[in-house]
Amino acid sequence: MSSEVLGERRVAEQIRLNPRFLAVYKFAIEELMTKLRILSEEFDLAHRHDPIEHISSRVKRPEAIEDKVRRRGLAPDLPAIAEGLDDMAGVRVICPFVSDVYTVAEMLTGQDDVELLRRKDYIATPKPNGYRSLHLIVRIPVFLSDRVERVKVEVQLRTIAMDFWATLEHKLSYKYESQVPGDFAAELADVAMLASHLDSRMQKLHQRLG
Ligand code: GTP
Ligand code: MG
Repeated sequence: MSSEVLGERRVAEQIRLNPRFLAVYKFAIEELMTKLRILSEEFDLAHRHDPIEHISSRVKRPEAIEDKVRRRGLAPDLPAIAEGLDDMAGVRVICPFVSDVYTVAEMLTGQDDVELLRRKDYIATPKPNGYRSLHLIVRIPVFLSDRVERVKVEVQLRTIAMDFWATLEHKLSYKYESQVPGDFAAELADVAMLASHLDSRMQKLHQRLG
């Protein structure tokens, strides 16, 4: 085994030996979840419509971090990982309607302490497989005992229909891995189209009620 591979193998261990490394991502998620909860509740009071259905989050597991470091050929040390990986902290926001996805994204990125690093609109331009969502990489300050850290968080915003498709596609792609039946991809893309039509029709019903 080369020393490089040895170094990469030790990534998960390095992370476990430095509890403060992952803790800042947990804190960043807590900050972001609070922002989103406030937006959800206050928007509801102001407009009698809650633009957020539910929110979930995760900090990437040490093994998953190690795998990605290896795949990306990143240097196996903590500062390089913090710099190189944008999805150490992940927040997923499920919205009732497509318009809510954009409303929430704008309200969040409009905040003074939220820095938008990257925006990928897979709703306007779905992935070839049919995947739709709005992805943001934001950076927010986390106030620690001796310093302020600016921490990156990946925010995925999607409707219930987009989440339905993405969740089941993820399950299916794990199940089949290598041996995917011939018409599988086309069928999945077709179902994604159905989900998109559902979103459009629901959006129209939503607009009719003002
Ligand atoms: P990753 O290295 O996978 O993080 O991809 P990336 O850096 O090119 O970013 P991208 O914005 O394309 O995807 C980030 C995340 O979005 C993924 O880790 C998944 O959680 C989700 N995602 C992207 N594409 C798909 C897809 O086709 N199906 C599903 N179910 N999820 C997807
Ligand atoms: Mg990812």
